[in-house]
Amino acid sequence: MTTNLFSPTDVQRFFDEHWTVRKYKAVSMPSEHLETILAAAQRAPTDATAQMYSFIRLTDPALRARIAEAATNAHIATASESFLICADVHRLKRILEVHGVEGGHFPHIAIHFGIGDAVMAAQNMLIASEMLGYRGCWIGGVLNALDLIAELTQLPEGVFPFAALTIGVPDEPPQHRPRLPREQVIHENHYRPYSEDELKASSKAMGPITARGDWPQTLSRYFGKGGGMEQREPVLESHLRRKVFLE
Ligand SMILES: Cc1cc2nc3c(=O)[nH]c(=O)nc-3n(C[C@H](O)[C@H](O)[C@H](O)COP(=O)(O)O)c2cc1C
Repeated sequence: MTTNLFSPTDVQRFFDEHWTVRKYKAVSMPSEHLETILAAAQRAPTDATAQMYSFIRLTDPALRARIAEAATNAHIATASESFLICADVHRLKRILEVHGVEGGHFPHIAIHFGIGDAVMAAQNMLIASEMLGYRGCWIGGVLNALDLIAELTQLPEGVFPFAALTIGVPDEPPQHRPRLPREQVIHENHYRPYSEDELKASSKAMGPITARGDWPQTLSRYFGKGGGMEQREPVLESHLRRKVFLE
């Protein structure tokens, strides 16, 4: 028997209230709130005990402004708090080194573990922030300027800036964006194939997740031939090869 801290209705209502915010009020986060969200981040579970992540808390306004521009997300400069969320194999290697252990060769494992750990810790932080009444925004736009952002924040080899995360008090009206139907993302025992009609219907219903109301069009701009992700792909691969995990 579990001891419920919250009722199922309260939990669902809380998660239903998630929305991403890109315009914030110019207020700072009190230190006890900051302490709470950072503690929440550190309570995240971690594969193989390794905690292969680091956050760079961005407090220098000039640095924030440069990263905001490079990552094409202006709210990095204006949020109450902005963090660079990094996968980090550098510290692990240093820990092994100071204990006289020769590090193994595991570049792909490092990516797998590092991103997993970083995402779990940062999402814990976002959820804790939302519990305190803040809202936030993950920023994959960091991929638009990986080398520059890594240089500006002096990331050593083995530290990969996966994304940024802004947190603050919303200065825009709430917008609750749709998700795919439950039965399309939760399978039971076996992966269920999708029919064309089902995918077309759910894609139409997803319209309001995008500003233009046309989700397939947005997906095609990101993931279609000649889309944004094809431009990001070589940048990410070369960054990982040169600066980070892949040798
Ligand atoms: C890893 C990740 C990267 C994201 N990158 C950006 C970004 O660069 N800019 C942005 O405005 N929103 C970004 N988002 C926010 C998504 O656009 C947002 O979560 C999605 O549209 C769903 O909206 P909702 O969170 O309000 O429900 C990102 C979200 C995630 C999880």
